[in-house]
Amino acid sequence: MRRAFCVLLALLPAAVQAGSVSSPDGSLQFELSFAEADALSNRYPVYTVSLDGDEIIGESRLGLRTDGSDDFARGLEKVGARCHRVDSTWEQPWGERRFVREHYNEAAFTLRSGAGRMIVRVRVFDDGLAFRYEIPEQPGLAVGILDELTQFVVSSDGTAFWQTGDGHEGYEHLYQATPVDDVSTAHTPMTLRLDSGVHVSLHEAALVDYPAYRLVAAGDGRFDVELRPWSNGDKARVSLPFISPWRTIQVARTAIGLLDSNLILNLNEPNVLGDVSWVEPGKYAGIWWEIHRGLGTWSSGPRHAATTEAAKAKIDFAAVYGIDGVLAEGWNVGWDGDYVGEPTQDLTTPAPDFDLPAVASYAREKGVRLIGHHETGGHVTHYERQMDVAFDLFERHGVNQVKTGYVGRTGTLKRVDQQGRTHLEHKDGQFAVRHHLKNILEAAARRISINTHEPVKGTGLRRTYPNWLSREGSRGQEFNVWGNPGNPPEHEVMLAYTRLLAGPMDFTPGVFDLDFEISGKPRRVQTTLAKQLALYVTIYSPIQMVPDLRENYERYSDAFQFIVDVPTDWEQSIALAGEVGEFVAFARKERGGVDWYLGAITDEQARELSLPLSFLDNGQGFRATVYRDGPNAHWDDAPYEYVIEQRIVNNEDTLEIKLAPGGGTAIRFEPEE
Ligand code: NOJ
Ligand code: CA
Repeated sequence: MRRAFCVLLALLPAAVQAGSVSSPDGSLQFELSFAEADALSNRYPVYTVSLDGDEIIGESRLGLRTDGSDDFARGLEKVGARCHRVDSTWEQPWGERRFVREHYNEAAFTLRSGAGRMIVRVRVFDDGLAFRYEIPEQPGLAVGILDELTQFVVSSDGTAFWQTGDGHEGYEHLYQATPVDDVSTAHTPMTLRLDSGVHVSLHEAALVDYPAYRLVAAGDGRFDVELRPWSNGDKARVSLPFISPWRTIQVARTAIGLLDSNLILNLNEPNVLGDVSWVEPGKYAGIWWEIHRGLGTWSSGPRHAATTEAAKAKIDFAAVYGIDGVLAEGWNVGWDGDYVGEPTQDLTTPAPDFDLPAVASYAREKGVRLIGHHETGGHVTHYERQMDVAFDLFERHGVNQVKTGYVGRTGTLKRVDQQGRTHLEHKDGQFAVRHHLKNILEAAARRISINTHEPVKGTGLRRTYPNWLSREGSRGQEFNVWGNPGNPPEHEVMLAYTRLLAGPMDFTPGVFDLDFEISGKPRRVQTTLAKQLALYVTIYSPIQMVPDLRENYERYSDAFQFIVDVPTDWEQSIALAGEVGEFVAFARKERGGVDWYLGAITDEQARELSLPLSFLDNGQGFRATVYRDGPNAHWDDAPYEYVIEQRIVNNEDTLEIKLAPGGGTAIRFEPEE
């Protein structure tokens, strides 16, 4: 007999009232119950999660504190529950795959205390589950300030892959691999490999008008959700009806099982922007890397990088190689002096040596998209005061994509209140969450897409607002210029299993000049050149930069061909092989095309992988152009040694590939005529 997907024990005595809901394939189960306590008024709701009958999340608390009271934290009883199944498919306007299946079982448990009703809504998919809190409007109930008591108790030993939630660098810390018990505070996604081999990732979805959370370890595998507070200590400022973001637990039996999950996207609301054909994925070049390399400046003066002439030269470069856009970073007045300390950025006035109308019309003539930039230095109110006219200006000049930035340490977003007082807010608190959505909507009203740097973490809102194309929110390539230390060879592998589970990242792969000096000191990008190519496939983002100088690409023009060819929008994506922090391989099929691409990267270890090509279309031969590490390649002493070779393959073949230490392989598969 088929097991019921939803078991509601409402008729049992209050003390054992419970309920459970399982995944469509029956393997994953969420169970709600109440912790035993000295008195009924002390009982609090708890949940457990099991996979194939084995507990992976042990008894963990659920609940909210409202206006400092325990009304929705303890003394609750279950008064009702409703179950619901969904199995449908929706289409992404752009993405890592065109069609997404949304298949889950849902239970909504209504809990009641003396103060009123709260709903715990649970959705269990085959690849993970999520729950959220809802407090409907109800007579006599008002809620202003809210805190959350959610816990995740990791039942068994294992390894955690995490970045600290402390410090001033926001999400820009290196990832660590430690025993679960050694985690102190962590940002999400935090990924766990349990000793059983099961992989779990904790995160959140649909973060709207609420603070982000970090995980705080409380010992014995317990992690508490800690909402990022406002500057006065308030956690979340809410009103009724209230709906929290989803608390997500991705579950997979293998490491790569985490990578093809659509859990986070599926938990977001459908597109509310209607026709978004104006949102355009693609590659872009810019003056950005030159500035980072110290070859020019954002600030005005003889070394100002974003001049009319330099922008036109970049547009020429983009036009020659079919690169869709050019980012004009440093185009405006306001970079001189301390733009983080003072609200100097003027986002409506081009620098005197940057002729915006001329550059915009040159770009149009050449068929290249001009990409705008709003660096705020973290002065959010100052930005919001000029945001509409700043977007209007770009709209007038046909600029339909803007990179935003919030440089500055975390906890220093500047909010100016009506009395003119400045408050310092977190980049992942409720103020920032509200600001980013306002920014996305202002942009959408003008058919502009956004790429946010120093953002709040991704929670899948790109489904609802498809003009939120990409974001930074982790250590990008730029750390190889000034990071102390730079990114180690394992970094981009680690990203695949952690940061990238939250959504697209504007990492800016594709640097070809790997050793250079900054302020007289030697710097190294710890990679082989072939790995830089593979990153265009292993890191998903609908916009990918082509950052290096034209001369560096033209020095290795045969390898550059891969960057010229590789698309950024996909019909299908499949994780082929990998282990967290060690290596990863993806295959992706071009959206609206017939070619497949493969990217494989490793950490500092050399590896040999056998990759079955069963993803290729049946009965069709493909010409594979392989860009791989040469026999002696090594990120440290032979990074430029690569080999390009061609062979004919089909979907019955298995490809043996060798990755050098810090290396990678990139492949384009084209159907044979
Ligand atoms: C930091 C961003 O990540 C980087 O891309 C940008 O160039 C600088 N801020 C200046 O806005
Ligand atoms: Ca940054």
